[in-house]
Amino acid sequence: MFRYDPDMANLIFDYCRGRLALDPVPLDFAGEKDKLDAVLGGLLNRHGNDAASVMKVFSEHLATAVISCDSPRFLAFIPAAPTRASVLFDMVVSCSSLQGSSWLEAAGAIAAENQALKFLAGLAGLPDHAGGVFVSGGSAANLSALVVARETARRRGFPTAGRYAVAVSDQAHSSVANTLRILDMEAMVVESEHHRLNGRSLRAAMNARGAEDVVAVVATAGTTNAGIVDDLAGIAEVAGERGLWFHVDGAYGAAALFSPTARPLLEGIERADSLVIDPHKWLFAPFDCAGLIYRDPPLAKAVHTQDASYLDPIHQGRDWNPSDYAYHLTRRARGLALWFSLAVHGSDAYSEAVDASLLLAKQTAQRIDARANLEVVYPPMLSIVLFRRLGWEVEDYYRWSARLLEEQVAFVTPTSWEGETVARLAFLHPKTTMEIVEEILDTMS
Ligand SMILES: Cc1ncc(COP(=O)(O)O)c(C=O)c1O
Repeated sequence: MFRYDPDMANLIFDYCRGRLALDPVPLDFAGEKDKLDAVLGGLLNRHGNDAASVMKVFSEHLATAVISCDSPRFLAFIPAAPTRASVLFDMVVSCSSLQGSSWLEAAGAIAAENQALKFLAGLAGLPDHAGGVFVSGGSAANLSALVVARETARRRGFPTAGRYAVAVSDQAHSSVANTLRILDMEAMVVESEHHRLNGRSLRAAMNARGAEDVVAVVATAGTTNAGIVDDLAGIAEVAGERGLWFHVDGAYGAAALFSPTARPLLEGIERADSLVIDPHKWLFAPFDCAGLIYRDPPLAKAVHTQDASYLDPIHQGRDWNPSDYAYHLTRRARGLALWFSLAVHGSDAYSEAVDASLLLAKQTAQRIDARANLEVVYPPMLSIVLFRRLGWEVEDYYRWSARLLEEQVAFVTPTSWEGETVARLAFLHPKTTMEIVEEILDTMS
């Protein structure tokens, strides 16, 4: 089991080489449980199987039942578009069993990950001493950050008779509500103006509440549904006045820091106490990679450091242990794929790729408005376009979505907007073209 088998290596490398060379990758299909159960039946047994036959099951039956989120025709939810460099380097991370938990064990990997985090922090305008860790996703990052917000409030003696509360907009990502439930914190939902949280509404909500139990505010830099950036500067202002922890969830949209044209939308991000930005979304890294950056890392360290006798050796020096900055201990050096790709291609290539999606979203909105039966619901701020097909009911959108996948035109899923079901296109793949968009719009006539 532990011997190097060149045949198995060739089998896997050949598959990977083939996949890497696909341009574009096929969209593929959703799976059916009965069929998948049938091909998997009996595969896990006492004696094992020939590697080639297991790989055949994977490539012919399992891989094709996964909709390729790295296809330029995947425009649902939040797609992915990892660079070849990042995917290749991720294989290096796997082959080398590179973990990145403590400096003692993994200084080289951690130094490079921290260089990538510093680069992102610098773009955001955070101070030089800002730092953090790459975690598995935006949800893990929101949870890890808001634990720090809560515990920091507690340490500072923030007065409260009961639970702490966090100000959020009704557009915050679902993981924020989950986080607050897990942490037994209350969500103080602040009404947004046109789906955008601003400082004025936050101040009014704080005054109306009167109580001093609100310890943090979550702003979103790019809502998942519509790509709306909250009024970060105005919210930061109120957070400063009230001593609130200012958390910015830029899991999707903070990648716009790379775009000179979109950067002004993110004004105020530099005042964040904690910031989330997911390279596995719009920064072209493979899953699973989310950057979590703290303005003042020692506050996070005071909360997340795990204390155990067997871990004493990693806490001897003043070294940087990524395990100190989120709720995990062992972790993959998942930031290296971003680091390698950024080092190879340079940040200008990232700016161009982000700008391409921003432009495509704007042009798509124009094309939609030029069609008599289509209507933009919210002018795109970033790279998500919401629009309606006049006369369509809920079932029409779902039928349309299923048909497009069946015909391999695109994977697009409906969403809802102010109670109405509408169509949604999320762009971040640099190879999604206007031709693909027009092909999709043509199916709605
Ligand atoms: C704004 C925002 N926050 C958090 C998340 C959750 O991130 P993840 O899916 O990586 O856990 C998402 C996911 O789309 C998101 O868009």
